[in-house]
Amino acid sequence: MKTLLTTDPNEAAEFIKRGRIVAFPTETVYGLGANVFDERAVAKIFEAKKRPADNPLIAHVSRVEQIGQLATEITESAEKLIDRFFPGPLTVVLAKSDKVPAIVTAGLDTIGVRMPGYPLARGFIEACGMPLAAPSANLSGRPSPTTWQAVLDDLDGRMDCILQGEATEIGLESTVVDCTGEVPLVLRLGAVSLEELQAVVPTMSHYLSNDDEVVRSPGVRHRHYSPRARVMVIQGMGAGIRSLQLPVPTGRAAFIGLDRPTGKVEVERICGSVDEYAHQLFEFFRECDRRGIETIYCEQVDESGIGAALMDRIRRAASGQ
Ligand code: TXA
Ligand code: MG
Repeated sequence: MKTLLTTDPNEAAEFIKRGRIVAFPTETVYGLGANVFDERAVAKIFEAKKRPADNPLIAHVSRVEQIGQLATEITESAEKLIDRFFPGPLTVVLAKSDKVPAIVTAGLDTIGVRMPGYPLARGFIEACGMPLAAPSANLSGRPSPTTWQAVLDDLDGRMDCILQGEATEIGLESTVVDCTGEVPLVLRLGAVSLEELQAVVPTMSHYLSNDDEVVRSPGVRHRHYSPRARVMVIQGMGAGIRSLQLPVPTGRAAFIGLDRPTGKVEVERICGSVDEYAHQLFEFFRECDRRGIETIYCEQVDESGIGAALMDRIRRAASGQ
């Protein structure tokens, strides 16, 4: 299949209306979308990404009213979160409507719903005329794409169209919150921090799975966010540490973080802030792969605000999970 590149949301929407799949930008990462009500179109997403069938997709809306087509009930906690954070980098998990085919949610009776903050994303969904099921637009296991070029690298010829936008503003995926229970639970850390969520819903907790427990967010079980290079976490410049000393690498190495390290590496990326670090991480992983880097050192940061999501992604990449 030939992949068309366009900056016109109406042209891209024509593909969706004909049951095809289209990559599009959001403020978090690029997504790979299909008509959420079209089972065959959604199946093409799983095929293109080589995504395991047991990993549910998020439904993306352009207007709050569309949530009624996807979910049977908007709980009190969900309503507060939607009021405060939609449109934006938050996904709320609700009880699923029977109108949504089972393939979208991998057979779960719940559905994740999100309204992107990036205006081009909302304009595109609006032009499609229905909500879009969309995971991140990478090959399964690879870092999420933050530019249309990264989407093309992974999926050229495997999707019908890319709606080209700017590099994504945030660079990490949305926060996923399960709102179906008594106490809302953060299933995946993301751009909206636990502190910000608790300011709206004070009982909000972070769900931590034990091995014996049923994993509530299937996606966190799969290998994720991984460059080909080995990722290693380097302790940050906290209290008492005067310099950031890198180990002597055995092969070609790279560094990303906030402080200039001592020790020699081939590629060095010093970020001006934690936000900037989050924005750059996935693209840096991809750049390192293109250059044949074997080890990537990532400086540890304080786990507040987006730092928690950043460290979550880095640890997952480091554990090869
Ligand atoms: O920022 C984002 O969320 C991006 C953009 C494109 O919107 N999307 C994204 O989708 O990261 P994906 O498929 O790569 O990750 C979705 C995560 C997975 O961990 C999945 O298991 C979880 O959300 N998820 C989706 N639906 C769920 C549900 N009904 N219950 C629990 N977890 C769910
Ligand atoms: Mg993903």
